[in-house]
Amino acid sequence: MRVGVLISGRGSNMMALVGASRAAECPYEIALVASDKPDAAGLEWAQSQGLATFALSPKGLGKPAYEAAIDGALRDAGVGVVALAGYMRLLSDGFVAAWRDRIVNIHPSLLPKYKGLDTHARALAAGDAVGGCSVHVVTEELDGGVVLGQAEVPILAGDDADALAERVLAAEHALYPKTLAEFVTR
Ligand code: GRF
Repeated sequence: MRVGVLISGRGSNMMALVGASRAAECPYEIALVASDKPDAAGLEWAQSQGLATFALSPKGLGKPAYEAAIDGALRDAGVGVVALAGYMRLLSDGFVAAWRDRIVNIHPSLLPKYKGLDTHARALAAGDAVGGCSVHVVTEELDGGVVLGQAEVPILAGDDADALAERVLAAEHALYPKTLAEFVTR
């Protein structure tokens, strides 16, 4: 399966997907890394790995034209599944419908808890004993699609949001490649 990864930042989950895709038995390859932020650190890394990249800022373009360009780049690359990896922009209902059941996302909480932002601070404020991450199908509802896989990490005394984020991120890097492999072979 040819996978397109959308990023907005450092792209550590994208790097984990790329690393896993290089194993002979991996059922997906990363056909394109695309970003709404032309200066995203992850894009430079992807280029250094010889991966195809596409960068376009929606600023001044408008969302429909921006999304049409992203859609075109994904289709030109022969992408069958889109993996969001720290992509910080909401996809329109039209884009989601065009890629129905073919977009997945990784979210840093144990969904359905803590949809949206500031997940780690919210888990700490609630006094949770565990945190974690979820890979889910993307639908029109923010962080609301079917959960495909989850990983838990302990919340330790003295954790702040950064410490918890770091522990969860390590779990994300293991969970996302494994869950994506299961998803593309479902
Ligand atoms: C991750 O915590 C991911 O769960 C969230 O945004 C962060 C992206 O990190 N959606 P990276 O860009 O993959 O390093």
